[in-house]
Amino acid sequence: MSDNIIIKAENISKVYNLRRQKTFKEFLPALFSGSDTRIKLNALSHIDFEVKKGESLAIVGRNGSGKSTILKLIAGVTKPSDGRITVLGQVAPLIELGAGFHPELTGRENVYLNGSILGFKKKEIDKLYNGIVEFSELRQFMDQPVKFYSSGMYMRLAFAVAVAETPDILLVDEILAVGDTKFQEKCLRRIKEFQKEGSTMIMVSHDLNMINEYCQKILVLDKGKQIYFGEVEKGIDKYQQLLS
Ligand SMILES: Nc1ncnc2c1ncn2[C@@H]1O[C@H](COP(=O)(O)OP(=O)(O)O)[C@@H](O)[C@H]1O
Ligand SMILES: [Mg+2]
Repeated sequence: MSDNIIIKAENISKVYNLRRQKTFKEFLPALFSGSDTRIKLNALSHIDFEVKKGESLAIVGRNGSGKSTILKLIAGVTKPSDGRITVLGQVAPLIELGAGFHPELTGRENVYLNGSILGFKKKEIDKLYNGIVEFSELRQFMDQPVKFYSSGMYMRLAFAVAVAETPDILLVDEILAVGDTKFQEKCLRRIKEFQKEGSTMIMVSHDLNMINEYCQKILVLDKGKQIYFGEVEKGIDKYQQLLS
């Protein structure tokens, strides 16, 4: 792709097929007639945007507008129903809290599991391990199963693994809000560092100040439709109009 473009979404749509819960009264007739109660849900329709290497993109919109679905498309955990998405580079996704974590495994074991999902070899994780534990500030909890962790502790460990090596693309889905303020500041300092190193970040957040400070582009969504893509200042205006 030209002009240093690292992510390109071309007219992407995502449809989910939902099976509507039938009431008992509806259940038998539907069973015998074979009637279809599936509902199509257009999670995203005709989305177009591109991100250059080193640029950061904010995605905003009310709940259910398709923000997380876009991150999942970029991470490759789901495919578009229509259109095309091209991603060049290694993606470190912080999408759902604990995604990629196994509750029965210890913190240490999960670092290795998560690291391997990110594409690191065991030897590489051995080298990164101490730095990860240090960043997470969870040293005394590393041999406990993560099912005993709080959501804040999950977030610390997941973030520490994701940023252990500078990723080409970091996806952050609202999780920064889970940590305490001090840890959040530490995460943001780390994000600033790797932005300087040329990384790209896609950030879903409701914090407009944070977006202003960390992102150069913004994508505004409403009910799966693209309201705006472009400069942050104008996008925030559009978003605030939507909310009012
Ligand atoms: N795996 C799924 N199966 C069915 N519907 C889904 C799935 N994931 C998301 N949706 C639906 O798609 C829409 C967009 O969801 P999402 O991308 O999570 O929105 P946001 O992150 O902006 O709150 C919502 O209506 C949601 O219920
Ligand atoms: Mg979401």
